[in-house]
Amino acid sequence: MLCRAALRSSSARLFSTSAARQTKVAVLGAGGGIGQPLSLLLKSDPLVSSLSLYDIRGAPGVAADVSHVDTASEVTGYPADKIDAALDGVQVVVIPAGVPRKPGMTRDDLFNTNASIVRDLATAVARASPSAHILVISNPVNSTVPIVAAALEKAGVFDPRRLFGITTLDVVRAQRFLAGIVESDPRQTPVTVIGGHSGATIVPLLSQSQYGKGIKGETYDKLVHRIQFGGDEVVKAKDGAGSATLSMAYAGAKFTNLLLRGLNGEKGVITPTFVRSPLYESQGIDFFSSSVELGLQGVEKIHPIGDISPEEEKLLAACLPELKKNIEKGKAFVAPN
Ligand code: NAD
Ligand code: LMR
Repeated sequence: MLCRAALRSSSARLFSTSAARQTKVAVLGAGGGIGQPLSLLLKSDPLVSSLSLYDIRGAPGVAADVSHVDTASEVTGYPADKIDAALDGVQVVVIPAGVPRKPGMTRDDLFNTNASIVRDLATAVARASPSAHILVISNPVNSTVPIVAAALEKAGVFDPRRLFGITTLDVVRAQRFLAGIVESDPRQTPVTVIGGHSGATIVPLLSQSQYGKGIKGETYDKLVHRIQFGGDEVVKAKDGAGSATLSMAYAGAKFTNLLLRGLNGEKGVITPTFVRSPLYESQGIDFFSSSVELGLQGVEKIHPIGDISPEEEKLLAACLPELKKNIEKGKAFVAPN
């Protein structure tokens, strides 16, 4: 049995609590494989004062269950027809709603189903909580984030400082896989991952890591491949029962905590995330993941990618055209006014 101190310290490892203001957070898709553990982890985050759980199926049950956890936050579940009530007064909206992959599928194969789910949820946020920060998990992230932006733009409430594609799982994997090779502590093995969130668009900058810069040859190629295609490992192992849920819930809760710390005024909160970005705008790519400083308004500063190795130049060259296609597909889905 875990004692109270052990529970406190395991929660402290995931969540930093240095800031004071607390926040109402909504999870849209709270009944799903990611939504349920994500809701549980957010219930454990001291920066979350109130948790609003919404799904077209099962959210009141998940809320009743999670609400018994002995942390201070209030939890309410909302059924399918209560989206506006679920979003009332919410400052942060996390969206894991949508279908996951089965073996043999790409993330882009999810577009036909998930594009309309995400567009409709973004339209609801624009109506019910137009100044909320929106954190998109639903795949394909490279397209769903531009869809959310276009839906918000159509409603006249788009603020690029408040929209994030969560690419934290790529960072979590990069740190874990690299640490496994060099036998370091994964939490002390930071890796910046840039680009997007699918296959070749995922570009780990190992040359910028004190542990990663020495990795060469076949070991390097295998590590990069594993980071880019880590999602496939899970899809294959789950054998038709879905994709990463638990590690994604962890990554989603981690990113949400980082954003809340920035919103609370903590300085120097920097992490990769997929945002509206000027870095490759001249090449027609206006969404990109790079290290972003999070602050009182959300995106505070988008950092340049910095010096990269010749291998990483090649990875980036493969990333950009695919990312551009994914972004354009998302934008085209939401017809302008
Ligand atoms: P899941 O099928 O277990 O859960 C999805 C949930 O969304 C279900 O409970 C469903 O009822 C709900 N839902 C569907 N339409 C909805 C709507 N209109 N409003 C509210 N809820 C709705 O799937 P999952 O495993 O939780 O994965 C969810 C999504 O997250 C998938 O698209 C998956 O590809 C993606 N994902 C992204 C990352 C990432 O790194 N960004 C990682 C893992 C999974
Ligand atoms: C992941 O990276 O695990 C997710 O994007 C889910 C998937 O489809 O692989």
